[in-house]
Amino acid sequence: MYRFRKDLEAKKAVEINVPHKKVMMCLNESTLNPLEAVKDQLLENLKLVPLNRYFNDITPKLKNKLAEYVGHGIKPSQILFGNGADEMLYYIFTSVRESVRSYAVSLAPSYFDYKSYCDAVGLGFEPIELNKDFNFSVEDYLEKLNHPNCKLGILCNPNNPTGNLIPDKKIVHILENTDKLVLLDETYFEFSGITFADVLHKYPNLVIVRSFSKAFSVAGLRFGYLITSEENAIEIGKVMTAFHSSLMIQTFAYTILENKEIFLTHTEKVKDIRNKLYLWMLSQDYITVYPSHTNFLIFTIGDSTPELFDYLSDNEVALRPVWGHPLLKNHIRISIGTQEEIEKFMQLFLKFIDRF
Ligand SMILES: Cc1ncc(COP(=O)(O)O)c(C=O)c1O
Repeated sequence: MYRFRKDLEAKKAVEINVPHKKVMMCLNESTLNPLEAVKDQLLENLKLVPLNRYFNDITPKLKNKLAEYVGHGIKPSQILFGNGADEMLYYIFTSVRESVRSYAVSLAPSYFDYKSYCDAVGLGFEPIELNKDFNFSVEDYLEKLNHPNCKLGILCNPNNPTGNLIPDKKIVHILENTDKLVLLDETYFEFSGITFADVLHKYPNLVIVRSFSKAFSVAGLRFGYLITSEENAIEIGKVMTAFHSSLMIQTFAYTILENKEIFLTHTEKVKDIRNKLYLWMLSQDYITVYPSHTNFLIFTIGDSTPELFDYLSDNEVALRPVWGHPLLKNHIRISIGTQEEIEKFMQLFLKFIDRF
């Protein structure tokens, strides 16, 4: 007898399938050690947050600090935070799911876990395929979005894994031609510099999701947040558990914002390394690479890409295959590591290509 929700039976167990190599350039993580960067201040701040209590005023302080960081007149009451952008996605999906027929529309290829979390909460998932230049038909997207069973539009900007930005005009067109909730995933915002937070007041159907895992270097801490209207924040908040965010994590996130310049300066360095790697890849005969507004690049060397991937892996360099979608056949993704890690990658690449 199956004792769980019927649709879960066919779903695969969540599996985090990541190679563990000396050089990890596979999960778009940061190379900056956050504890080293803010240790003294974190300890001072933690002294003011007794963990024998459920409540502490670090919570409103953090919301104020986040609102100040987001800017554009966003109020603390327009922000919800939790354990990573992932948890915010999960809460949004849970809050819109109406019946077995409900679904979300997204782009493909895009962030893989949109589908996983939709499956987890019993929300259907309908992808709109990107074309060869990573563009898509807004009319097809709107047709799916405006269907009565569709409860949510998802747009990842910049998109993971393609790295490109969706033109602002397209996003505006979608927002202005639907009443449905539209989730704009700005996980890589600090790398792109492009946000819709400044026009949020115009669109009551817009929810922006952001992460501290990339520019703010704390993937392992698990901290993310969403920005929306006060009314939407109240509704999404209804599916959240009480005290879901640990006071320790909140204090760490607060300390990061107090020291944001360290992380934003590092972000500029990452962008610089990314731009140089992009130009180097462009100069290589065998590589096809794409511009990126994130902390990663995707590229291909054609049919030999899987072999290159294995060769790098055998030499302790882990990248990420993104060839699961036909559009990205033979493509792999490299997260921007340290200068030394990128140089190691280049040397291995040249050695590999030498055989041809
Ligand atoms: C587009 C996108 N959204 C969300 C996430 C999840 O971020 P977090 O670590 O904050 O849960 C990621 C992580 O790689 C991502 O690439």
